[in-house]
Amino acid sequence: MRFSGKKVLVTGSAGGIGKVITGMLRAEGAIVAAADRDCSDVEAEARLEGDLLDAAYCDGLPPAAAEALGGLDIIINNAGVITRGPVTETTDADFELSVGVNVEAPFRICRAAIPLLAANGGGAIVNTASCWGVHPGPNHAVYCMTKAAIASLTQCMGRDHAREGIRINAVCPNEVDTPMLRTGFEMRGFDPQSAIEELGQTVPLGRVARPDDIADVVLFLASDAARYMCGALVEVNGGKSVS
Ligand SMILES: NC(=O)c1ccc[n+]([C@@H]2O[C@H](COP(=O)([O-])OP(=O)(O)OC[C@H]3O[C@@H](n4cnc5c(N)ncnc54)[C@H](O)[C@@H]3O)[C@@H](O)[C@H]2O)c1
Repeated sequence: MRFSGKKVLVTGSAGGIGKVITGMLRAEGAIVAAADRDCSDVEAEARLEGDLLDAAYCDGLPPAAAEALGGLDIIINNAGVITRGPVTETTDADFELSVGVNVEAPFRICRAAIPLLAANGGGAIVNTASCWGVHPGPNHAVYCMTKAAIASLTQCMGRDHAREGIRINAVCPNEVDTPMLRTGFEMRGFDPQSAIEELGQTVPLGRVARPDDIADVVLFLASDAARYMCGALVEVNGGKSVS
C-alpha cells in the first residue's frame, strides 16, 4: 500500500494507460480524482470531466481535485493525442490539438498544481512524454515535437521545483497496446490485432507493451522509491529503439 491516503489527480484516466494507472493507484490505497472527457466508466473517488483544450478547465483541475479529495499529493499528466504524418500533411487543427492537449494542458496543470503541492510540503508529478519525444520518429513530426516539449518542460520543472520538495519526472513509452495504437492501425486499413502481433516481433522483448508495463513505472516515479529522482525521462521500450 505505497499510496495509502495519498490524493492523486490522473488525466486521461478513461484511456488505455490512464485507466490502469487509476486502478493500480487505488489498489495501493490512493484516493483518486479521475479527469477525462467522459469518466462514467472509471472507478474513482472524484470525477472531473472536461476538455483539456479548455484553458479554464486545466487551470482549475488541481484546485478542484484538492477540494474534492481534501488535499493533493500527486499529479499524473497522462492524457495525450497522436497526430500522424509529416509537417506537410499536418493541418492547423492537428497542430492546435496536439500542442493544446500534449503541451499546454500539462503546462497549465503543473503551473496550478505546484503551489498547492509546495504549500503541502511537497509532492510528485509524473508527465507522459514518449520515446518518440526523446528520439525523432518517422512521419509523426508534430506528435514528436509535442512530446519533446513536455520532456524538456519536465527536465526544467524537475530542476526548478526540487527545492520545494516536488519531484517532477516523465515516463517515455514506446508502442503500447491501447486505443491510441489500435485506432492508428484501423485508420490505415490494418487489422489491429495482427498488426500489434507483427509489431511485437520488432521489439527485442518480443511483444508490444501492455498498459500495466507503463503504469508500473508511473507508480514507481510517483512513489517514495523514486525519492531522489527529479527531472528524469524514463524510457520504457522493451529494448526497442526508435527507428
Ligand atoms: N499508446 C502508445 O503507443 C503510446 C506511446 C507513447 C506514449 N503514449 C502516451 O501515453 C498517454 C496515454 O495514451 P494511451 O495510449 O492510453 O491513449 P488513449 O487514447 O487510450 O487515452 C488517452 C486519453 O486522453 C484523453 N484525452 C485526449 N484528449 C483529451 C481532451 N482534449 N480532454 C480531455 N481528455 C482528453 C482521452 O479521452 C483518452 O481517455 C498519452 O500521453 C500518449 O501520448 C502512448
